[in-house]
Formats: sequence, C-alpha cells, structure tokens
Amino acid sequence: MTTLTSPNRSVELDDVQGLVRVGYKCLKQACFLLLRVKDAEAARAWLATAPVTSAAAAICDQPPEKALQVALTSDGLRALNVAPDVREGFSLEFVAGMASDEARARRLGDVGTNAPEYWEWGAGERVPHVAVLLYAAPGRLAAWQEEIEAQCAAGFDRIATLSTSDVQGVEPFGFVDGISQPKLDWKRERAVRDEDQIAYGNLACLGEFLLGYPNEYGRYTPRPLIEPARDDAAKQLPRAEEEPDKADLGRNGSYLVLRQLRQHVELLERELDRCANGDADLRGRLVAAMVGRKKNGEPLETSRDPSLAQGARADAQELNAFTFREDPRGVRCPLGAHIRRVNPRNADLPPGPPGILSWLCRTLGLNADALTQDLVASTRFHRLVRRGRKYEVGAESGLHFICLAANITRQFEFVQSAWIMGTKFDGLPDEGDALLGSRQKTLDAQPTDGYSIPQAGGADMRLSGLPQFVTVLGGAYFFLPGIRALRYLATAR
Ligand code: HEM
Repeated sequence: MTTLTSPNRSVELDDVQGLVRVGYKCLKQACFLLLRVKDAEAARAWLATAPVTSAAAAICDQPPEKALQVALTSDGLRALNVAPDVREGFSLEFVAGMASDEARARRLGDVGTNAPEYWEWGAGERVPHVAVLLYAAPGRLAAWQEEIEAQCAAGFDRIATLSTSDVQGVEPFGFVDGISQPKLDWKRERAVRDEDQIAYGNLACLGEFLLGYPNEYGRYTPRPLIEPARDDAAKQLPRAEEEPDKADLGRNGSYLVLRQLRQHVELLERELDRCANGDADLRGRLVAAMVGRKKNGEPLETSRDPSLAQGARADAQELNAFTFREDPRGVRCPLGAHIRRVNPRNADLPPGPPGILSWLCRTLGLNADALTQDLVASTRFHRLVRRGRKYEVGAESGLHFICLAANITRQFEFVQSAWIMGTKFDGLPDEGDALLGSRQKTLDAQPTDGYSIPQAGGADMRLSGLPQFVTVLGGAYFFLPGIRALRYLATAR
C-alpha cells in the first residue's frame, strides 16, 4: 500500500480515487458515462471488480495512459440494494439529490430555463445511478470506452454519454482555466484546531475534501460508520480514526458534484459589443471585469502574495499568488467578478495589528474595514477542488462542471447559492454572478441582471439588462467512494 505519512497519520493513496489528487490533464480525452441500474446483481458484479485508478497511480513518474473513476448517487445506492441504514448515514443533501425540491432549486439558481424540468438528465427517471468517468491519452479513448460500455451492458442502461473536448486549458468563453485550486494537505501538517485564521492561505485540511479526516473545524464530517461485525465485507473497510471500533465507509471518499453548464458564447460576444459600443479596448476590459482575470489568466488584482502560488499548476503559479486585500472597493477587480465571488481570498478576521485590543475591535467589527469584511464569510470553509472538462457538440459548447468536497452544503451549495447567485453579495445591489447569474427576479421582485464595475475616481460603471450566458442542462450529487468502500457497496448483503 502506498502511503503518505506524517507522525502517526497516514493517507492510503491506493484507496483514494485518483481524481481527488489530480485532474488527469495529461489524459486529454475524457467522457463521462451516466448509467442506471437495470440488473442489480450484474451491476454489483461489475462494480466489485471495476478497474478504478487510485491516487497512488496518479502520482507515479509515468502517469497512466488511461484512468477510470466511479461515483454513485443516492438513487444508485438504493437501486443497488445498499441497506437503508447505511444509505442514511450519508449527508442529507446527498441523500435527497440535487433536483429534489423547489427550495434547493431556487437556492442553486435552478429556476427559469435552468429548472430541473428542462434538464436533459438529472431529474425524475433521468437521475443517473452511477457515473463512470473515463480519461485517456490521445487516441486511446474510443476503443476503451467501447470495452467499458460492453462490460457495463449487463447491469446498466446508459442514459447519457457526456463527451468532452480536448483540454487546451481554455474554456468556451475564451479564458484560460484550471488556474486556481486549493492545495490539499496530503502530509497532514496543517493544524486542525478550530481557531481564527488571520491570513488567507491556500493549504486546506484534507478533511475538507476527503471524508474520514479532520476538516478546517478540526472535526470529522459525519458519514456512514458501521459495525465491523455486520458482515464479511465490512471487515475489509478501514476503521474510523475518531471511533476505531467502527468501520468507516466514508474514509478516502469524497462527494462529487456534476453539472452540465451550457455556455452561450455568441450571446456573450453580442452583449459585449452592445455594452462597449464598438470600443475594442473597453470590450476587453468589460469581459475581464466579469471574470476577474484577463483571457490569458492574468489576475486584475495586483497585490501579490507569493506564498499563495502553492496548489496552482506549475505553469500557473504566478497567476495565483494574490489576494484582494488592497482592493477593498473593487477598483482593480470588481467585488462581483466571478473569481472574487467564488473565492474572496479572505481570512476569518479582517487584517490588523497584533494585540488583544486590535483582535477585539476586529472580532466585534468596531471599524469600517472590519464591517466591510464581515459581509463575506471566511473563505477556508468554502473551498472547492474543480475537475470539470469543457465540451463541444455541434454548435453547443459548455462545461461539464465537476467539483469535489466533503460537505456539499457548506462548500458547493454555499458557493453556488450565497456567492454566485447571491444578489447582495458583499453589499452589491441587485446582481448575481455576471457570467453565471440566472437573471431571474428575486422573491421580492428585485432585478438581478446588473453589474457594477467600480471606478477609481467616481461612481461605479453600471451594466444593466444582462442576458443569461449560462444554462444548466443537468446535474447530480455523487459519492466518489474510497476503493475499499466501493467494493463494500458492491458486495455487502
Ligand atoms: C460555465 C460556467 C463557468 C465558467 C465559464 C467559469 C469560468 C471560470 C474561470 C475563467 C476561472 C478563472 C481561472 C481559474 O482559476 O481556473 C474560474 C475560476 C473558478 N471558478 Fe468558475 N466558471 C464556471 C462555473 C463555476 C461554478 C458553477 C463554480 C462553483 C460552484 C465555479 C467556481 C470557481 C472557482 C472556485 C474558481 C477559482 C477561483 C479562485 O480560487 O481564484 N465556477 N471559473
């Protein structure tokens, strides 16, 4: 077994699916098979032996030529006859599912044309049970996909094949992507005490992304813990760190959020033309202001912090070493820019001099800076590992957005609802994320189609009447189990 250790604390990389560790960028071809169980016994037999690629293989000097990952929805666990008490040990939002109720749909912005009733997959009878993610080196995907589909045919019906296009590192709106990622603390060196952090950092406790390890609160995220004596299969599971007499079905697993996001590229281009009125320079500045980076990935914010380079791809480290600390009004990078909404790069407390008096003032919000910072929650509890791939099918292009998190509500749903869809984010008036907003009016009939771009010496430049540039076509919450947990789910009676 390949392990990464710090004193007394090991991480069993052979048991972790590789996607938690790497995005398989060198495997440029990928497709995601969305399956429904048609014969539970045959489906379980395939899952019991599926050739899943582990995180140990992901880090060897020679990356694998192909990789396969498997994730299951709550409906999938039910269809595979996993015992109800085991299923109920997973988080409530996973058990319920992404498209389960109207309140969740509203929070996530899945309203209007984004509503689950219009989705191509992910609602009703089209909720997938299992996702098989295939990654391969150029020229290796087609034959392998055929082989895996043939293996799955006895146990599953395929409801969708999400194809992806070559990763050139540029998403359909033309921006370099995959730049900023949290750095996972694989060596378990980060303190897991729940105490205020006074500086933004990129290193995240492993438990923010892998179940069975302490998270940023120094706690273990709830997950199914079962009696090892329950059945033979349970004896093969790892023990829970905090309750060693229990077998840990969550350990080395993560939750995987998948959303198919169609990007209306021509509409964005037309809208930029309209707003810039023929001024090419302004056009470029407007679209950069919406994202918070120029198309080449260069951040608009210029206050550098080299320690933050960790975690980004080697070629993108320079592009990730900054915070928004010296730009409180958003003059360099608007407060509502996509990258500022999804990662405000702040700490738990506003910055200030050391000492108890200063701490008290900042904790109680007794000065204007502290009050402003209080409008946005601390970033470290809301990080996401992104593993999406872009797609192009005929005239349609977009993103198969994938993110990993140990707590779907606190991480993905919070970022999506409070920060991306939030129409009062950071005190801004009546606007959602300029790229991703649904533009639906709020419950109290306020518009959400504006965008404010603060100017150095005067009033904000204000765009209004923005159309919707991204439509949700499908989505689901999956559990990406540790490999022993996958075998347990496939074999336990
Ligand atoms: C079609 C939809 C989307 C597009 C076109 C898009 C585009 C981008 C771009 C261009 C970047 C900057 C480059 C980078 O750091 O990779 C970025 C960063 C990011 N996006 Fe998105 N994004 C989309 C959807 C989402 C969604 C749905 C979420 C979360 C729910 C999200 C979360 C993030 C995060 C966390 C970052 C990194 C921010 C940072 O740490 O600086 N994005 N996105």
